[in-house]
Amino acid sequence: MSTAQRLHARTLGWYAEHRRDLPWRSSEVDAWGVLVSEVMLQQTPVARVEPVWRRWLDRWPTPADLAEASPADVVRAWDRLGYPRRALRLLDCARAVVDHHGGQVPRDAVDLLALPGIGAYTAAAVAAFAYGDRVPVLDTNVRRVLGRLLGAEALPPPTQTRAERHRAEAVLPEDAATSATWNVAVMELGALVCTARAPRCEACPLAADCAWRAAGFPADAHASRRHTQAWHGTDRQARGALMAVLRAHPDAPPPPDLLARAWPEGGQRDRALASLIADGLAEAVDGGHRLPTHRPPAATG
Ligand code: ADE
Repeated sequence: MSTAQRLHARTLGWYAEHRRDLPWRSSEVDAWGVLVSEVMLQQTPVARVEPVWRRWLDRWPTPADLAEASPADVVRAWDRLGYPRRALRLLDCARAVVDHHGGQVPRDAVDLLALPGIGAYTAAAVAAFAYGDRVPVLDTNVRRVLGRLLGAEALPPPTQTRAERHRAEAVLPEDAATSATWNVAVMELGALVCTARAPRCEACPLAADCAWRAAGFPADAHASRRHTQAWHGTDRQARGALMAVLRAHPDAPPPPDLLARAWPEGGQRDRALASLIADGLAEAVDGGHRLPTHRPPAATG
């Protein structure tokens, strides 16, 4: 057995035993369900995504259903997943799937990448998980696992490199169906065992092959280039607090003093409201602010 075959067998064996039964991994879920899950999961933990994803797909089971929705309903259904511009981009994406692909999520990488809100990661995840194609899927978990296993690095570089993509391609199983399972299995290993802060090497099926472990767990070489995102007191926190008030008042603008109570500091509140309007997440109307009732067509090209 080659090294690659051993890595595959051990990882797939571990996954069969330890995988979480997450709803978007069911074979019943179509490409649209997978796409929605991947957009939601990119910046939000599984536990928060699961109920929102279920409600979202009950309400808008196809791109054609979502394409008809109002932006206010879409932003409200996004609930507290954070980074709510993703909700509006998903609406743009649904419209594009209807307008350019007859309502079917495309399979081709170039077509997927051309959809609003779909970057390299999501395009690869949809191709692999929805269509079973043989493409490496590199999210932060996969990048960390492969960086440790093959590169002896504590954590991957802040932005993805070409070398990482080549390395991921080099260990991808030949068979397409197996490669799709390998992608999700490595991702799951990163989420459950090979975590960023407290890896459980004693539970890892790849410990004996791990270059980072063999090298004595060297420290993060990219630490100085990493910025951790602050939250408390930031404009992003202010935006979240104000959006919560707007979401709670679907039919009329909330009384302005509710916004003032949600974020008392006036200068930062005004700045946050202006940025929400600029992002299409809020509208200024007589008597205050409300969720957007209109979403212009996405710019193309
Ligand atoms: N299964 C498939 N894609 C996933 C993701 N992005 N996060 C967690 N589980 C997944």
